[in-house]
Amino acid sequence: MKIIAISDYEGMSREAANIISTQVMQFPNSVLGLATGRTPLGIYRYLIDRYQRENVDYSKISTVNLDEYCGLPSNNEQSYHYYMYSNFFDHVNIPKENINIPNGIVEDVDSECIRYEKRITELGGIDLQLLGIGNTGHIGFNEPDESFAKATHCVKLKQKTIETNAIFFKSPDQVPKYAITVGIRAIMSAKKIVLIASGSEKTEILYRALFGLVTPSVPASILQFHPDVTVVATEDALTQIRQKTDAIL
Ligand code: GLP
Repeated sequence: MKIIAISDYEGMSREAANIISTQVMQFPNSVLGLATGRTPLGIYRYLIDRYQRENVDYSKISTVNLDEYCGLPSNNEQSYHYYMYSNFFDHVNIPKENINIPNGIVEDVDSECIRYEKRITELGGIDLQLLGIGNTGHIGFNEPDESFAKATHCVKLKQKTIETNAIFFKSPDQVPKYAITVGIRAIMSAKKIVLIASGSEKTEILYRALFGLVTPSVPASILQFHPDVTVVATEDALTQIRQKTDAIL
């Protein structure tokens, strides 16, 4: 595992965006696994900037988003569909048919999960997976559990996740209780993973995920078994790792 320590959020965003742009330029047919949340917002800004200034071409790129809330239509501003289109897809030349996001408003959620998993397989898996980390240690919406959920599935969100994500909603009771998330198998099968983290509130969970026990109660800990993980994080998010390990030079 490679850890890149950056002093601030802008630098972290630029560094991670450079890794993704390089992937797109070197391998224009790549399948990108994409994440939502506050942390990647700067990355999408830098990717759009490089697209506009350097003509980074996304016309053959496919994308697979990690997750979507159940019950939110794509025109709801809190849906991850809306997030992805307004913060990224509307500004680069990825063909619409190459964009994949779970559909959170289907009647038959189980069939949607099966369809999504099949779609990832048809695409040949994910070449580069961008991941944030939740305060519960979740990746995508794979919440702490008794075992690692392998396939795309519907998950009941932890109260802590609902509270954390409530800032995007008018009140916590508007946060959906369920979401569809890609499972651990597709994430772990990605050829390359870029894990991003910013802010002192992530320092404990980041340490536990990367240097603690590998356990489904900290889903991100499974990343310790992945052969190609690059962590791009701000210094405040890396405080505990710096204090307790010698992993950062
Ligand atoms: C969200 C998303 C995750 C994301 C995580 C961290 O709820 N489902 O994919 O990585 O939680 O979010 P943030 O970047 O806002 O801390």
